[in-house]
Amino acid sequence: MKPAPTGHDIGLALIIDNPYTKAMATKPLLKALTEAGIGSRRRLADAIREGRVKVNKTVAEDFRQPINVETDNITINGQLVDLKPEQLVYLMLNKPAGVMSTTSDERGRRTVIDLLPEKYRHLRLYPVGRLDRDTTGLLLLTNDGELTNRLTHPRYEHDKEYLVAIKEKLQPNERQKLEQGIELEDGLTHPAEVRETNDTPFNYSITIHEGKKRQVRRMFDSVAHPVQALKRVRTGSLRLGKLKEGEVRELYAEEIQAVFKGHT
Ligand code: URA
Repeated sequence: MKPAPTGHDIGLALIIDNPYTKAMATKPLLKALTEAGIGSRRRLADAIREGRVKVNKTVAEDFRQPINVETDNITINGQLVDLKPEQLVYLMLNKPAGVMSTTSDERGRRTVIDLLPEKYRHLRLYPVGRLDRDTTGLLLLTNDGELTNRLTHPRYEHDKEYLVAIKEKLQPNERQKLEQGIELEDGLTHPAEVRETNDTPFNYSITIHEGKKRQVRRMFDSVAHPVQALKRVRTGSLRLGKLKEGEVRELYAEEIQAVFKGHT
């Protein structure tokens, strides 16, 4: 079996091969901040817009102002930002049920960060997208803001495959509705593919192409088959494979490259 590359190896492979994460010393301000992994692109853009970001003690006015990450001194709300490219890490987690796919929870519930081995804890990893608390399966975690932006941008929407457990068999017309599109309160779903499986307890798989909130559960609710259990097994070309519930592994370099190249 191929050994999982270390985060450091992956970082190097991407620096050499990937045009999107080239570790250039000079980059546009908003990109430099996003890559520092200190918050979402939107919140960082707001901080610049609101005059809370200073570059070498001068208020920044342009998102594209060139920044030398080695030498420039940037503050947000007066706090110095560490811009040095940190170790970029890409993890796949098989999320168990009952765990929040967030980095913290105001009600103190267990989050995916609590499941990470100690060596990843200081790397400011966060999940890319969400799974419901009771959904299990494939969740990507990274500290690479660039990758997160790409994957969560509507332009890069990719297939997501779920295993679904429902109590009764779907009637042909119900299956057809799921496949052709369901009118949910936030819009019509794109055509989906539904297959029967016997992957106990799951009896169907569905592949959807967008990521509306609780989409699969709401689609099955609308044909009167409430979902009993839900597990994501694939996003784009990334497959959960044999990874056990609660386990994490680093992505292989070629998996990361496929994600960046939009093969997902
Ligand atoms: N659809 C859902 O209903 N829940 C998830 O967690 C993911 C997709």
